[in-house]
Amino acid sequence: MDAAALLDWYAREGRDLPWRRTRDPYRILVSEVMLQQTQVDRVIPRYERFLGRFPDERALAAASAAEVIEEWSGLGYNRRALALWRAAQVVAAEGWPRDVAGLRALPGVGPYTAAAVASFTFGEDVAAVDTNLRRVIERVDGVARSPGALTARAAELLPSGRGAAFNHAMMDLGATVCRPRAPRCDACPVADWCASRGAVPAGATAAHTRVRFQDTDRFVRGRVVAALVERRPLPHDLGAERLERALAGLERDGLDVREGERVMLPGR
Ligand code: ADE
Repeated sequence: MDAAALLDWYAREGRDLPWRRTRDPYRILVSEVMLQQTQVDRVIPRYERFLGRFPDERALAAASAAEVIEEWSGLGYNRRALALWRAAQVVAAEGWPRDVAGLRALPGVGPYTAAAVASFTFGEDVAAVDTNLRRVIERVDGVARSPGALTARAAELLPSGRGAAFNHAMMDLGATVCRPRAPRCDACPVADWCASRGAVPAGATAAHTRVRFQDTDRFVRGRVVAALVERRPLPHDLGAERLERALAGLERDGLDVREGERVMLPGR
């Protein structure tokens, strides 16, 4: 693959997104945690709102768990919001780590997020391998790899000194051109180097699209957290068993507190 063609394309067609106009690690971390579970256009207004309420790590660290969960409401996976809050507490006390390894030690920060923040904030040359990057590289090379081999291949493709642009370009390519089910190879800057030319591998229909969202535990947990935030009755219409499983899961993750029959957000 010709990385120069990719970066030229990104310079022309790259998306202008709010978290691409900053190098503040806090803002970039907030965006990356939100983007792990929610589409870009839905994240933008929530990102702005979250930063309006918690403008920096000190403000977030000083909030209560209930306030954070309340602000996160509707973004899904509340556990990630609590991990972000704990990370803010570590950083408010100790300062920001300066590299991938230090970022990895923060609560809730896995290899992808650490690489994304390190490249976008510190300009570190490290590939942020998410599902978009994996799909693009697998198609270009026409090879499926183990996670370790894929990370090594991504590092090889990354042009020295251009880590941030490479990651952004690959994310945009994966999201807008090299899409999972309907790739737009006619618009692809690296089609000339692509082994598959958009052949859609078997199994590209993600398993989650086959399960109705209303049937998932995530849906039940979302309904429970919304009820707790808004101080409404729990969603008993979903059935005692599903409700109990959701409550137990939320309790395990520190997202609800039970006192006898009463269920509350932590810190309320
Ligand atoms: N998805 C995950 N991180 C992203 C980013 N920084 N820009 C656009 N989409 C993303």
